[in-house]
Amino acid sequence: MPRTIRKIAINTGGGDAPGLNAVLRSVTLAAIERGIEVWGIKHGYRGLLEDEPGGLVRLDRDAVRGIMHLGGTILGTANRGDPFHYPTQEGDKVVPKDRSGELVERFRREGFDALVAVGGDGSMRIANALLERGLPLVVGVPKTIDNDVYGTELTFGFDTAVSIATEAIDRLHSTTEAHERVMVVEVMGRHTGWIALRSGIAGGADAILIPEIPFSYESIVQKVLQRESRGRRFSIIVAAEGACPKGGDLTVRDAGDEFRRVVVLGGVAERVAKEIAARTGKETRSMVLGHLQRGGGPTTFDRLLALRFGAGAVRFLVQGCESGMVALRCHRVELIPLAETAGRTKTVDLDGDTVTTAREMGICFGDEAPGHFAPGGTAAS
Ligand code: F6P
Repeated sequence: MPRTIRKIAINTGGGDAPGLNAVLRSVTLAAIERGIEVWGIKHGYRGLLEDEPGGLVRLDRDAVRGIMHLGGTILGTANRGDPFHYPTQEGDKVVPKDRSGELVERFRREGFDALVAVGGDGSMRIANALLERGLPLVVGVPKTIDNDVYGTELTFGFDTAVSIATEAIDRLHSTTEAHERVMVVEVMGRHTGWIALRSGIAGGADAILIPEIPFSYESIVQKVLQRESRGRRFSIIVAAEGACPKGGDLTVRDAGDEFRRVVVLGGVAERVAKEIAARTGKETRSMVLGHLQRGGGPTTFDRLLALRFGAGAVRFLVQGCESGMVALRCHRVELIPLAETAGRTKTVDLDGDTVTTAREMGICFGDEAPGHFAPGGTAAS
């Protein structure tokens, strides 16, 4: 049954991803076409919780003109803005406070009928909890370069990150070969290896280390030595930031805090490079691609996906659907229950044809049995 929606709010939360501005544009235009007012909440939920001027901004045609191809988000975002653990000044201290009730009340007071929450897995979990707390209607739009949101085949931002990482790996080939080194490139992805897997294959990496497959140094060393024996005196290893040695730990840069209750990963490439150097005697280098993967505008693919997700969110709202998250399934934008995605992570399918393709091309994942990379055997490059 179609429903009447008069006023919606939209926010962008968590790490930014190329395509956020395209979503803001398509949500706004698709809503305005139906006579719906759109308001942007600045910096995650901060614009609703803090009494700051301009915390809520009217999004009209002018506000979303010329932004589709731009990176970042015109609304700003927040990594420490969970309304259930919101950083709040108390005396001379900033402490986490549950401000969800206050948020729901302000939302209703402002006359919003629905929230479009654009974010990653953390944002979907928060959106679901806010719904349970009393928000009238929520449609989530999955974004993240990591591609780890459960329930959707793809998130926007991922294709851009993979393209940037692939180009970087392409460029590293010439310098690595010229110096006959082993180069370890660290890419993002948190606890999943989507970016590493796809950019590693496309960029012609010799080994790809992902969190879903704990690795052994022996296996990587064998691969490097096999290449040496075949006259390939350089190797390129792509490591996802969450890759872990068998029986070992994650490489953590920051333990997180009471406001952002997740660890910040980083440093695995250096760790792997040092160990390979010690075990092979080869000169090694590591590099961390970092936020370059998130910066700048979206690829055409991500731009289109973001536009489709945004327009889909408004379409589902006016069609009278329940709260949910837009998701890409078999090339179509569908709406799935928020509870289906909240608190879950989409990991790399180890039996899928992408991993199989890599293995068939001789790319090492660090879990190969001793002797697997026999000198003269098949190899990736
Ligand atoms: O989730 C996106 C992501 O870019 C991850 O790949 C990375 O681990 C994390 O965010 C980094 O977060 P930030 O640098 O914003 O703290």
